[in-house]
Amino acid sequence: MKIIAKTLENLEHVLATELEAIGAEDIQILKRAVTYQGDLSILYKSNLLLRTCLRVLVFIKEFPVKNESDLYAEIKDMPWEDYLGVDDTFAIDSIVNSDQFRHANYIALKAKDAIADRFRDKYGKRPSVDVKSPDLKINVHIRQNIVTISLDSSGSSLHMRGYRKNHVDAPLNEVLAAGLILLSGWDKKSPLIDPMCGSGTILCEAAMIASNRPPQKINRNFTFMKWKNFNSELYEQVCNDAVNGIIHSNLPPISGEDKIKSAVQAAMVNITEAGLSDLITVEQNDFFYHDDAQNTTLIFNPPYDARLKEDDVTDFYKHIGDKLKMSFKNCTAWIISGHLDALKHVGLRPSSKKALLNGEIPSLFCKYEMYEGSKKEKWKQRVHHED
Ligand SMILES: C[S@@+](CC[C@H](N)C(=O)[O-])C[C@H]1O[C@@H](n2cnc3c(N)ncnc32)[C@H](O)[C@@H]1O
Repeated sequence: MKIIAKTLENLEHVLATELEAIGAEDIQILKRAVTYQGDLSILYKSNLLLRTCLRVLVFIKEFPVKNESDLYAEIKDMPWEDYLGVDDTFAIDSIVNSDQFRHANYIALKAKDAIADRFRDKYGKRPSVDVKSPDLKINVHIRQNIVTISLDSSGSSLHMRGYRKNHVDAPLNEVLAAGLILLSGWDKKSPLIDPMCGSGTILCEAAMIASNRPPQKINRNFTFMKWKNFNSELYEQVCNDAVNGIIHSNLPPISGEDKIKSAVQAAMVNITEAGLSDLITVEQNDFFYHDDAQNTTLIFNPPYDARLKEDDVTDFYKHIGDKLKMSFKNCTAWIISGHLDALKHVGLRPSSKKALLNGEIPSLFCKYEMYEGSKKEKWKQRVHHED
């Protein structure tokens, strides 16, 4: 099968690395998506195990069209009875990126009519539409005049892991949080802190990564389970392998802090819901009063709140930089922020900067390495040690 995994902008390479690890073949990077070849086992693993994937589609047909009548005829001509019974339900998701075709809803309507008419002509009866919980979710994608038809094997977006029961303002998307941890190259052995943890998304994703837990619950309902070719034994095998692969010992300390009590409570609820209470500690604390730490990775997204006045934001980021220099020697801090100006006030030179989108907000994910003493001394020590 040709499979398409969708992701967030600039996480394509991270997703490709995850795909390699599960055995996908012929991996090709597109914009916000990665395509690859795989069998049913790879399809099941993609849904259950990929941390930076939003949705997994199975490609079925691609064709050029001149107008809506062409689109209708091509779709009507496809053997939909291989995928759907007359008593099943279906829904169409359409994405249109074309100068010629502009209205995604109209395209979805045309595709729906084509499928319904095919069934009516053949069987005198047609499957009905159910947008909430269809048996078959069909994806119609138009780029200029090229139509790609695929089947959505996931159902609801895979960023919804199911553990977020409590919210704070501006929580990170779970797929983005997992992407940050994988991009950071954290060794999964040294301590990790999110000192402004909000609802605990980074903490949960980090604990799942360190313990090799699947990001999705084993009992999640994926739409591929309703497909005619669903192989429940194979899926059970994939789940068993995933559970057997969970690491239970020698896990790194993962801790979160937030200065607001309700955020700490939200994080605790979510961590418990994710079944990760044994792996993560959370407490109420103001970052600026944090005890000194060594050899620790910090990953966080400070507020860059529209409600804060401009001077307050720059001061806030300057204080973050001062605190990092003072209390986190020999540590690495990664900060994601959409306030690109404020980031300049951290006062440390980032050793890496990655452009990402947090929701619709263009953001930077910056790495700061705090050396004990100057960089030159550190370098001298290393050369001496290697001699
Ligand atoms: C953008 S939110 C973090 C969202 C979080 N990553 C999530 O996914 O839910 C920023 C958090 O920083 C916290 N915060 C702001 N100033 C802080 C400080 N001085 N010390 C600790 N936490 C702070 C806020 O209470 C807020 O929960």
